[in-house]
Amino acid sequence: MKQQYGQILTHPKPFVKWAGGKRQLISVLDENLPKTFGTYFEPFLGGGALLFHLLTRQHGQRCSISDLNSDLVLSYTAIRDRPGDLIASLKIHEKNYHKDSKSYYYSVRQSSPRGQIEKASRLLFLNRTCFNGLYRVNSKGRFNVPLGRYTNPNIVNEENIRSVSHTLRSSEVSIKCRDFQAVLADAKRGDFVYFDPPYHPVSDTANFTSYTNKDFTCEDLSRLVQLCKKLDSKGCKVLLSNSDSKQVSEMFAGKPWKTSKIQANRSINSDPKKRTGHLELLIKNY
Ligand SMILES: C[S@@+](CC[C@H](N)C(=O)[O-])C[C@H]1O[C@@H](n2cnc3c(N)ncnc32)[C@H](O)[C@@H]1O
Repeated sequence: MKQQYGQILTHPKPFVKWAGGKRQLISVLDENLPKTFGTYFEPFLGGGALLFHLLTRQHGQRCSISDLNSDLVLSYTAIRDRPGDLIASLKIHEKNYHKDSKSYYYSVRQSSPRGQIEKASRLLFLNRTCFNGLYRVNSKGRFNVPLGRYTNPNIVNEENIRSVSHTLRSSEVSIKCRDFQAVLADAKRGDFVYFDPPYHPVSDTANFTSYTNKDFTCEDLSRLVQLCKKLDSKGCKVLLSNSDSKQVSEMFAGKPWKTSKIQANRSINSDPKKRTGHLELLIKNY
């Protein structure tokens, strides 16, 4: 069934393609959701695949979403508060891109706009037109992905922007830019927290942690494990995704943690042959 509030006829979907995005895993995540819960927390938001799934299924669900990537968080608030301005700005990007895609792409990549709408439309434009549609920054926090090979990328996607905006406004969704640990002060007994952090590398060369200018380190992983344990003792329901690594399994060995291995696709790999299935972990305390 489609959502039908006034003009809004489509389900909201992630408005950015994000490395590690969970769109392909929604049905298995759905099977693993707790039956009931209070507020939904998603502290490693990214493209928010599970968030949009939940908001479609449970309209009005109270949510608290956050991420450390400030441009990403700003894009959520821009979509929520000023969808018309954002669409207008994206239409300008679209027009210029079609005149000379290469030089326009690199001029936008070089630019550092100050305004909320310009920052958000830059992120969405680069995400739609860059190679493989991924977000990656260097150690200085500069977006550094080359131009992608698309003939007609969907730069404006107006319908989805309107749908996301409507959904974020009509549900109780709080959006913040912050470190994941801040969730501890807010989550209460019966609330549900889904953690989808940058994955622990399965080998020394497998590494993709550049969503912000700060890498997700082993200390961050240890902080996350301690946080999950504290949330568990507060009576929160916790679900965590991670790579199928021995270290992560060992950190969550024993009660109350239940670990399952699920099949996933790694679509972000630049080598199409490496985009085949691999296993990852789903860990929960309920
Ligand atoms: C695997 S992605 C989440 C993907 C998301 N589930 C989806 O469906 O698109 C991990 C996210 O964690 C964010 N992140 C990295 N370090 C963080 C930190 N210390 N606190 C909060 N967010 C962080 C990154 O900016 C990135 O958006």
